[in-house]
Amino acid sequence: MADSKIESVLREDRVFEPPQAFVEQAKLKPADVEALYQAAQDDHEGFWAERAREHIDWHKPFTQTLDSANAPFFKWFTDGELNVSYNCLDRHLDTKGDKTAIIFESDDGEVEHISYRELHARVCRFANALKANGLGKGDRAVIYLPNVPQAAIAMLACARIGAIHSVVFGGFSAPSLRDRIDDAEAKMLITADGNYRGGKLIPLKDVADKALSQGGASIEKVIVLKRSGTDVAMTSGRDIWWHDAIDGQSDDCPPEWVNAEHPLFILYTSGSTGKPKGIQHSTGGYLLGAICTCRWVFDLSDDDVFWCTADVGWITGHTYIAYGPTACGATQVMFEGVPTYPEPDRFWKMVDTHQVTIFYTAPTAIRALMKHGDEYPQRHALDSLKVLGTVGEPINPEAWMWYRKMIGHDRCPIVDTWWQTETGGHMITPIPSYTPTKPGSVTRALPGIDADILDEAGKPVTDAGAGGVLVIKKPWPYMLRTIWGDPERYKETYFGMYDAHTYVAGDSAQRDEQGNFRILGRIDDVVNISGHRLGTMEVESALVAHAEVAEAAVVSRPHEVKGEAIVAFVILKSGEGNDELASDLRNWVAEQLGAIAKPEEIRFADGLPKTRSGKIMRRLLRTVARGDEVTQDVSTLENPQILEQLQARGS
Ligand code: PRX
Repeated sequence: MADSKIESVLREDRVFEPPQAFVEQAKLKPADVEALYQAAQDDHEGFWAERAREHIDWHKPFTQTLDSANAPFFKWFTDGELNVSYNCLDRHLDTKGDKTAIIFESDDGEVEHISYRELHARVCRFANALKANGLGKGDRAVIYLPNVPQAAIAMLACARIGAIHSVVFGGFSAPSLRDRIDDAEAKMLITADGNYRGGKLIPLKDVADKALSQGGASIEKVIVLKRSGTDVAMTSGRDIWWHDAIDGQSDDCPPEWVNAEHPLFILYTSGSTGKPKGIQHSTGGYLLGAICTCRWVFDLSDDDVFWCTADVGWITGHTYIAYGPTACGATQVMFEGVPTYPEPDRFWKMVDTHQVTIFYTAPTAIRALMKHGDEYPQRHALDSLKVLGTVGEPINPEAWMWYRKMIGHDRCPIVDTWWQTETGGHMITPIPSYTPTKPGSVTRALPGIDADILDEAGKPVTDAGAGGVLVIKKPWPYMLRTIWGDPERYKETYFGMYDAHTYVAGDSAQRDEQGNFRILGRIDDVVNISGHRLGTMEVESALVAHAEVAEAAVVSRPHEVKGEAIVAFVILKSGEGNDELASDLRNWVAEQLGAIAKPEEIRFADGLPKTRSGKIMRRLLRTVARGDEVTQDVSTLENPQILEQLQARGS
C-alpha cells in the first residue's frame, strides 16, 4: 500500500503556477524572492545578518553573525541583545497600538478583539505577576493552558522577563505533564481550572494536581486561570488565581534585555527512545525565523487576517500564533475549539466571519472535513482567502486538490510547509507568488536553508525518484540549540550520522525531475498521528507499565483521516487477551500519555517476531499490521510460527 502510494505520488504531474491575480497583489514579488535566493546563495552568513538587521529591533546590535567554533552547538548573533516581547509588542505601539492583534473565538462562539496596546498591557501585568511570584530570568515555567489568549500572554510575559517557558499541550496526561515539569525543573506551573473543547470539559487543574502529586517537586507556585468556572481544589500557599495574581500589578514592565542565545523556550517532542526531548530554542535566531517565514511563506502583511488553527501547545502554535504574527504586527485569529463543533463548517464559517486572508491547518483536519462533504464549505463565500497552508504530515494529493478547489476556489496558492519542532520554522515550502506548486510536494528549500538528500554513505542522491536521508547542510538561525539537559543526545540524534555540520532531520525524502522535494516519512521509530509526533517506544513503555502486560511492540499503519494509526502487539504475562482487556489497554495508554496515543488496535500474541539475536522485527510487524503480504526474508526468525499467529489474529 505504501509503495503504491509513493508510485501514484511520483506520477503526479499537475503543476500549478502562482495565480496571476495573486502575484499582482503580493507584497513579496517574484523578483524579490529571486533576489533573496541569490543573496543567500552568494553569502549564507551575510544574508542572515542582513535579515536580522532588517527585521529585529536590537537593544544592542550584534557584531558576530555565526559562531561555529563548537559545532554542532552553533551560535547566531551571539553578542547581540534583544527582547522578544519588545519585538512582538512595544515596537508596534506607536503605529499600530489600536490595531487588533488577536481576534479570539471561544469554543461556544464568543468573540473578543484584543488590540496591540491591550495585549501589551496584559502581558506587562502578567509579567509583573510572574516576578512577584518568584519567577526570574532563566527560571522555567510550564504552561498547561487551553488555546486561549492567556496562553500567548503567558508565553510573551515569560519572554519579557527572560524566563524560559515550556508549553505542554492541554491534551497531555498527568504523567506526561509531570515528566516534562521534572525534566525542565520548572519553578512555576501556569494552568486553568478547565475549559470546553467541542462542548467537552477538559479538567486541566485536576490533571495538573495529579501530576504534582506524583512528582513536580520543583514547582513552587501554580497560577490558575479561571476559564470553565468548574470547582477545583486550590492548595494554599502554592496555588493562586490568575486574576488575583495580576490584581494591582502595573501594566508597565520594562523588558529584560537578554543575549541573542538566551533560551526563549523548551518544547518537548518525541524521539526514538521512550523519553521525550526538550527542544531548546534561542531568542534572536528563533525570532528571526518566525518573522522571515511569516513574511515569505504567507506573504503576511498589514492588511491580512492570519489564522493558524494549531494549538499553542505545539511548535506550530509557538511560531505561527504566539511569536511570528505578533512580531510582524499582524492581526490573527485564535480559536479554542475544534473544526467539527457545533457543525463541520466551523472553520469555514469563521473564515467568513473574520474575513481571514491566510489560513494554515493540518492535512488531518482537511481530510476529516473533506469526509463530511462539500456542502459545508459551500455554505460560505470564502472569498477573503488569499493563501492556504498545510503542515505536520504528508498531504495526499486528493486532499490537496480538495483544499485547492473547495476552499481556495482554484484561486489561492497552497503552501505545503515542511519543518519540525527542531527547525523552529518553515524549511522546505513554496513561496506563494513564486513557486509552482504540485499536490503532495513541499517543493524547495527557503532562501538560506541548504537542504539535500544523502545516501547512507553521505553521497548526495541526485536521481529523480530515489529516496534518501533528508539533511540540512548549513546551520540556520532558527535551528534548535540543544536538547535541554542532554547535549550528548543532541549531538548524537541530529549530527551523529554524518558530521557536525550536517543536520539529520529524521525524515526520508526524494526529489522529482524538477528538483522538488517530497517527504516520504520518518526514518526512526517515530509515528505521526493526526500530525502529532509520537515515539513508538513511549507507547510501548506505557503498555508494559500495565500490570498484565509482559511485552509490547508498537507500529503504525496508514489511516484515512489520521494519516497513521497505532497498532500494538501485546504479550500478556498470563492468560489470553479479549476485547475487554484490549479496550482497557487502549484507555490505559490514553491515561498514561494522552488521547492522541490511544492505539487503534491491540493484537494479543504469544510472542513477538524476533531475530536470533533477540531484535524485534518491526518491519515485519508493520507489514502484518497493514494486512500486506509478507515479502521479507523471515528465515532469520527465531520463532517463525509466531508469524502465522499474528496474521491470523488480525481483525
Ligand atoms: O515527519 C515530518 C512531519 O512532521 C515531523 C515534525 O513533527 P513536529 O516536530 O511535531 O512538527 C510538526 C509541525 C512542524 C517531520 O519530521 N512533517 C511536518 N510537516 C510536514 C511533514 N511531513 C510531510 N509534509 C509536511 N509538510
